[in-house]
Amino acid sequence: MTRILMVCLGNICRSPLAHGILQSKLPSDTFFVDSAGTANYHVGDAPDHRSIAIAKSNGIDISNQRGRQFNVSDFDTFDYIFTMDDSNYQNVIALARNSDDIAKVKCILEGNHSNKHTYVPDPYYGDMSDFQNVFELLEKACHSLSEKLQKSGL
Ligand code: 4NP
Repeated sequence: MTRILMVCLGNICRSPLAHGILQSKLPSDTFFVDSAGTANYHVGDAPDHRSIAIAKSNGIDISNQRGRQFNVSDFDTFDYIFTMDDSNYQNVIALARNSDDIAKVKCILEGNHSNKHTYVPDPYYGDMSDFQNVFELLEKACHSLSEKLQKSGL
């Protein structure tokens, strides 16, 4: 089983979308996908209604996800940890215990040269067009990730 964790700040807007999109592209018998936030603001909460809506309009149901906070034990559980932006990256790296932990963490848009964005912008204070943009960025990134993961690993 290969385990992948998506991380943002609140675990209600971006990482639940990344979680749902990647999960929809990978076989569940060999891949486990989850998400978490670096902050504890929304522990136990369902995803933001705008993330639920944009996922639903693309055929993905994320309404059963619940927010949780990133924990140092996630370094042991997961093989790959993808952060949405550099602030999430720094917050996760600050909890790393060794170089093996650090090596598991990457920004999800890193190395995605076809894309002008190098991070997934926080849509929390935005409108539906910001959520649409986040969905499109994550759809592209997860498409490429799922191909790489199913071929030979990253
Ligand atoms: P997320 O967005 O990190 O994509 O889940 C946010 C959600 C909530 C807050 C900030 C960002 N907040 O400040 O509560």
